[in-house]
Amino acid sequence: MRHLLSIDDLGAADLREILRITPTFAEVAQRRIAKVPVLRGQTVALLFYEDSTRTRLSFEVAAKRLSADTLNVSVSTSSVNKGESLRDTAETIEAMGIDAVVVRHRSSGVPHQLTQWLDSAVVNAGDGWHQHPTQALLDCFTLESRLGDLSGSHIAIVGDIKHSRVARSDVAAFTMLGAEVTLVAPPTLLPPAVDRWPVRVSHDLDASLAACDAIYLLRMQTERQHEALIPDLREYSTLYGLTAERAARLAPGVPIMHPGPMNRGVEIAADVPDLEQVVVVDQVRNGVAVRMAVLFLLLGSSTGDLPGTSALPAQSADAEASAEGDVAEPVTEVTSGVGG
Ligand code: MLT
Repeated sequence: MRHLLSIDDLGAADLREILRITPTFAEVAQRRIAKVPVLRGQTVALLFYEDSTRTRLSFEVAAKRLSADTLNVSVSTSSVNKGESLRDTAETIEAMGIDAVVVRHRSSGVPHQLTQWLDSAVVNAGDGWHQHPTQALLDCFTLESRLGDLSGSHIAIVGDIKHSRVARSDVAAFTMLGAEVTLVAPPTLLPPAVDRWPVRVSHDLDASLAACDAIYLLRMQTERQHEALIPDLREYSTLYGLTAERAARLAPGVPIMHPGPMNRGVEIAADVPDLEQVVVVDQVRNGVAVRMAVLFLLLGSSTGDLPGTSALPAQSADAEASAEGDVAEPVTEVTSGVGG
């Protein structure tokens, strides 16, 4: 793996491999000192041209847990505001010595474009309506943790599919793992070429509830809508919002997912996030582990070999040294090459 731009580029084998090694990284988070020296001496730049809370923080935590340094580029306070181009900004950051850049941008294709200009590994943290591959990876990991093998399972994705990079990435990833996906949305919130997607389509949420093994709610992405696609949000939530009453019609334990940020009262009623089967917190937690796995595969293996559990260090020597009064655990170094 040289870059992570989209689920389709990744392919089924790499997707499964990331899911296979993710538990190793999830285990690191459980440690008293949640840090391993796998990417020591490497630098990951976070270049976010769009608002983000969880994705940016999640990549930052992931990089730091692997002992990488992070460069957090705050676009709102950078020379971008003085008219600097994307290329100049990216090349300036790379000249400071980075190994990977994690990029989010409102325009589809920006991560791919950066691969043409930079030597660093590029990770797509969301580009326009196009892709958000690490979201799909964490969603697959969360679903498999709950349901086991996804082959043959029925997943309903509900809401603003048209503007959603999460929907595009999830459909690709879930179907790669053998799941059957139904998109549930009003016709105006479906993409024009949906008949070429490997999915079923429904306009009736109530009729879709009983058959699903998991339900995935999407945010109404008003910032990407440039025309009136629904009469009003109240009508939308009446027809497509997940209320507690609708949730009660799901089979017991069916996971309710959302990529965040949630709009309570629109796609999800205010009291639904408190239900036991809502796995939003698991999604956030798993996001860190999945992103650690991705950064490890991009930067941590000079040979390109994927690690088994035993290849990972038990504990960072630096972290051990800073832990006062604790008994040191054995340290196993991993030979890590500089990627990018
Ligand atoms: C995204 O960046 O696409 C988010 O994770 C989902 C959203 O904004 O609704």
